[in-house]
Amino acid sequence: MLTILAINVILSIGGSLVILNVVPKFRDMFVKAHLSGVDLNKINKPEIPEAAGVISSCIFLIVMFMFIPFPFSQHFFNKQWGFPHQEFVQFIAALLSICCMVLLGFADDVLNLKWRHKLLLPTVASLPLLMVYYTNFNSTTIIIPKPLRFLLGHDLDLSALYYIYMGMLAVFCTNAINIYAGVNGLEVGQSAVIAGSLILFNVIELNGDCWSTHLFSLYFMIPFFFTSLSLYQFNKYPARVFVGDTFCYFSGMTVAVVAILGHFSKTALLFFIPQIANFVFSLPQLFHLFPCPRHRLPRLNEKTGYLDPSVFQFKDKSLSTLGRLVLKTYQLLGLVKVEQAEKDGELFQSTNCTLINLALQLTGPKHEKTLAAGLIILQVMCSGLAFIIRDSNSSLLRRYRTLYTYAIDVNIIMPNLLAKYFE
Ligand code: UD1
Ligand code: MG
Repeated sequence: MLTILAINVILSIGGSLVILNVVPKFRDMFVKAHLSGVDLNKINKPEIPEAAGVISSCIFLIVMFMFIPFPFSQHFFNKQWGFPHQEFVQFIAALLSICCMVLLGFADDVLNLKWRHKLLLPTVASLPLLMVYYTNFNSTTIIIPKPLRFLLGHDLDLSALYYIYMGMLAVFCTNAINIYAGVNGLEVGQSAVIAGSLILFNVIELNGDCWSTHLFSLYFMIPFFFTSLSLYQFNKYPARVFVGDTFCYFSGMTVAVVAILGHFSKTALLFFIPQIANFVFSLPQLFHLFPCPRHRLPRLNEKTGYLDPSVFQFKDKSLSTLGRLVLKTYQLLGLVKVEQAEKDGELFQSTNCTLINLALQLTGPKHEKTLAAGLIILQVMCSGLAFIIRDSNSSLLRRYRTLYTYAIDVNIIMPNLLAKYFE
C-alpha cells in the first residue's frame, strides 16, 4: 500500500512540476485564441489568459492515466487472485466523470453558457459514476447523525432519492466553488485547502475498517492537491492566469466523485462550510428575488487601491413581497448594507449577497491580496472546525486525540492570524 501511495505522490509531484513549466508557455496561445478575461480589480485592467484550469486538469488526468496500472499490479503477477473488475470499473468511471466535467467546463469557458446549463452539466457528467454506483454498490441507506436519531432512527433507506442526492452533490460542489470566486487565487486556494483536508481525513481513516475506499480517495486527492498547488502559483495575486469555469467544475467534480464512491459525502460537505454559507446567502440573487448582476465580485476603489463590497441597484416597487421580506431580514441581520443610490430618488442599492462582500462589509475595505489570504485562512479554520464536528460525532475523538488538539490549535491560532490579516 505504501509503495503504491509513494508512486502516486511521485507522479503527482512530476505532474505539478510540468504545470509550473508549461503554464507560462501556454499564456500567449490562450490570449491569441481569445481565451482571456479582464482582471476587473486592477487599475490598468489587464487582459489575462482564462481557462488555465484546462492545463492543470489535463495534467491531472495524465498523472491518473499513468497511475492506473499500479493499484492493480499485484493482480497482474498473481493471476490466481483474479482481477478486481469492479474496482477497476469504478476507477475508470470516476475518471470518465471528471473527464466529462473538464470538457463541459471548457465548453462553458468558450461559449459562456447560461445558468440553467451550468446546473445541468454536472448532472450529465455524474451519470457514468451513478451507473457504476448502481451496479457495484446500490447501497442507498444512510446512517443518521446522532442528534437526529431520536427522530429518524439509526439509518434510513433513501432508495431513488439517494441517486438524486448524489447527482445534486455534483451540481453543488461544482457550482459552489464557481460562485465563491472573483478574488485572485480564491478558486484554486479554496480547492487546495479542501483537497488537503480530505487527504488528512483519508490518511486518518486508513486505520479504520473502510480503509480501501479511503485509499481509493487518496489516489485522486493527492494528484489533485499537487496540481492545484502549482496552478495556484499562477493564479494568486497578481494573477497571471485565470483558471476559468473549467477548473471550478473539475475541482468540484473530483471531490464529488471521491465523496460518492468513498461513502463520505456528509464529511466531504463539512469541508465546504464557506461554500455552503456563500451558496445559501446567494440563493435570493440566484433565484432572482433580487437583481443578480453578471459579476458580484468586490469592486476596486481606484483612489484607495482597496476593494469595497460590490452592489446591485433596485427600485423598492420592483421587488416582490418575498424579495422585500428577505432583503429586510438580511439587512436586520447585518448581512447586507442597503442605502439610497441617488438623493430623493426611488433607486436603492444593496451590497451583493456573497461571503466575499460580507467579509469586506464586516472588516472594512481590503487590498485584494489581503482579502484573498484572509478568505483562504477562513477556509483552513473551517476545515479545523469540520474535524472537530466530525470527531465529536464519532468515537474518533478518543482514537485521534492528537488530531483533535491540532484542530483546536488551528482554531485558536488562525483567528489571531486572520485578525492580523484584516488589520
Ligand atoms: C461567478 C459569479 C460572479 C463572479 C464571477 C467571478 C455568481 C452567480 N457568479 O460567475 O458573480 O463575478 O464568478 O469569478 O456568483 N475575474 C476577476 N478576478 C478574479 C477572477 C475572475 O476579475 O480573480 C473576472 C474576470 O473578468 C474573468 C471573470 O471574472 O474573466 C470570470 O468570470 P466567470 O467565471 O465567467 O463568471 P461566472 O462563473 O459565470
Ligand atoms: Mg466562474
